[in-house]
Amino acid sequence: MPTPFASASAPTARKDYNVPEAFTAIRPAPRARVQAMKEYHPPLGSRDALRLDFNENTLACSPKVREVLGSISTDALTRYPEREPIEVILAAHLGLDPQQVALTNGVDEAIHVLFETFLESGDELLLPVPTYTMYEVYASATDARTVSVQAASDLQFPFERLLAAITPRTKIIAIANPNSPSGSVATRTQILEIARRAPHAVVLIDEAYYHFHGETILDLIGKVQNLVVARTFSKAYGLAGFRLGMLAGPVDLIRWVRRVLSPYSVNSLALACLPAALDDQAYLDWYAGEVLAARGEFEQALDAACVPRWPSHANFVLVEIGSRHAEFARRMREAGVLVRDRSSDPGCDGCVRITIGTRQQMRQAVTALNNTLAVLRAAVVAQ
Ligand SMILES: Cc1ncc(COP(=O)(O)O)c(C=O)c1O
Repeated sequence: MPTPFASASAPTARKDYNVPEAFTAIRPAPRARVQAMKEYHPPLGSRDALRLDFNENTLACSPKVREVLGSISTDALTRYPEREPIEVILAAHLGLDPQQVALTNGVDEAIHVLFETFLESGDELLLPVPTYTMYEVYASATDARTVSVQAASDLQFPFERLLAAITPRTKIIAIANPNSPSGSVATRTQILEIARRAPHAVVLIDEAYYHFHGETILDLIGKVQNLVVARTFSKAYGLAGFRLGMLAGPVDLIRWVRRVLSPYSVNSLALACLPAALDDQAYLDWYAGEVLAARGEFEQALDAACVPRWPSHANFVLVEIGSRHAEFARRMREAGVLVRDRSSDPGCDGCVRITIGTRQQMRQAVTALNNTLAVLRAAVVAQ
């Protein structure tokens, strides 16, 4: 069937648009803060391998999500997405009021929008480091200053140093709990003390890896007025491609955030599938249990191979490879296993982060690891 435009000839020459030949646009420069921003390119590229580089679910989402996806109507696609009814379902699932919850386009959007809502000139974002890269990226687009608090060499949560770094200018404190790439955690008592000592700041607890840790402060939402929690559906739920996250906080804070948040940033497919994902708790529990069993086995293999590692409360392990970290990551890739070189993170010199998948997948990873280490160690002996 011809399309309605089949007979229309596409304009080809500039003159069709009546653009003056000598026209030169003088485009305005971006804001100084944007000009000063570093470009951030996640190392995605070809990932046709065992993907242990982005802490995703390495298997699949719940089969119930696939079922819903297959039944989406064309009509549903023609409409703008409506997130409120799904926020009601999500809030009920979490035991919160719908007004305390905002769905976002991944936790990345939650971070971005929270920072845009609160950070202005003269403010400070307090950040224990090393941590998730995007906090600093989004803060650098605002007029606030980022104050980093370095963890000691054990990479444990730098609680005392963080408390000491709180100033009247501290506007947001962002804590990934569990943290990436270290896998370390802040305790509930520590989080409460931070919130108490910074009553003038928003304390963001990013629980992206909650399902592998099992401890949360979500029950404190609304009770502690400066606490907000972010959760993602990209990790345990296996829905990274949907870009689905959430922010929970006191009603008035979420209301401010909604002023900045696009009303349509969470797409209809993700919204349609979320109730099925939430419903399938059995799948989620099974996957988290499988990852924890695989993490135990993998840690034993690391110890047997004499690879130093940090204790992890998440679906990844940070290991110390040393000066040949980049070659290690490259050789692992050649062996069919993607891992993430984190050597440029503060305090992580020579470190590589390895996502934990299923036990079967991690046995494949152990074979690649041992072969790669053998090559690297043989090269050292030969020198
Ligand atoms: C601590 C932390 N927060 C948030 C994210 C991103 O979540 P999302 O995919 O929902 O944007 C990640 C992803 O690696 C992460 O490690």
